[in-house]
Amino acid sequence: MNVLAYTLKRLWNTPPRQVFGALRRRLSRHNTRVIYDLEEIFSAPKHTRSQRPYDFLHRYQAIIHRHHPEWIEIDFAGKRVLESGCGPMLGWGPLAVYLGCDHFTGVEPMFNSAVFDHPQWSGRYLLNFYRDAAALFGYRMDFDRFLQQVRERVTVLPTTHLSASWSEPFDIWLSNSVLEHVEPLAETLLQLGTLAAPGCRFLHAVDFGNHRATKHPFDDLYTMPPATYRQRFGTQINLYRCNDVQRFLQDAGFQTQLTPYYDAREFFTASISPWWRQRYDEAALFLKVGLFHGVR
Ligand SMILES: C[S@@+](CC[C@H](N)C(=O)[O-])C[C@H]1O[C@@H](n2cnc3c(N)ncnc32)[C@H](O)[C@@H]1O
Repeated sequence: MNVLAYTLKRLWNTPPRQVFGALRRRLSRHNTRVIYDLEEIFSAPKHTRSQRPYDFLHRYQAIIHRHHPEWIEIDFAGKRVLESGCGPMLGWGPLAVYLGCDHFTGVEPMFNSAVFDHPQWSGRYLLNFYRDAAALFGYRMDFDRFLQQVRERVTVLPTTHLSASWSEPFDIWLSNSVLEHVEPLAETLLQLGTLAAPGCRFLHAVDFGNHRATKHPFDDLYTMPPATYRQRFGTQINLYRCNDVQRFLQDAGFQTQLTPYYDAREFFTASISPWWRQRYDEAALFLKVGLFHGVR
């Protein structure tokens, strides 16, 4: 299907709110900062499911542990936590706070700080989160205290890492489906390498798919060089593969192990351009989600 037909089909099948959201995000690359639309966020099951942060972290650690039995579960108690691209709902912030972190910093260029005053945020999302956390980890504080601690211990910087005038060391560094969006990635990681505290632990889930609603997550991606792909389909992902991300992390001083989450080789029928074949093996080309982890 050519690009125009694909675009028209997507527009036809996408609810108007999502179309406007995508347009806003696209415009953001050109000029002013675009922030998350809270009405859109609070009507999206993905964002309002308050078990989501724990589910992801627990799943990632279970997978890592299966490959690396020496892996010790991340302990937030007393730690300074950094999350890159924490999303609209403070990402792993509430979990880190419930588990006693010293401070949580989110770096999120699209952050909308009005979330703190949104009635559904404290009255529904955080309350549900709190109930779930108390069931999982035991009662640690009442809800008002938890709310207060979230407000006191969480800071979200509404910018990218390289633009942030922030230089606090951190002991734990997390991200979920973010590093594939960061540009320039190598420089950003080098900067973070200078801020990480000795012994800093990190865990990043990186999604290497095309981030489009295509039949196969690698459709179109490998039929042309990355520069051509980005011209045609946009620059929202940097198109680095797992070897690149691992190398950039290592170069920044993060001794990194890569645990594959899952690959997506099946049903891929397109021919792969020499640009990709010459640089990456099959394992790298078809890794859909990878977990990068280690100690600084
Ligand atoms: C796919 S979303 C993931 C959001 C969230 N982590 C989650 O799991 O729902 C990618 C996020 O990365 C953020 N992002 C993009 N470039 C970034 C950068 N240079 N530094 C920090 N965050 C960035 C985007 O604003 C967006 O919120």
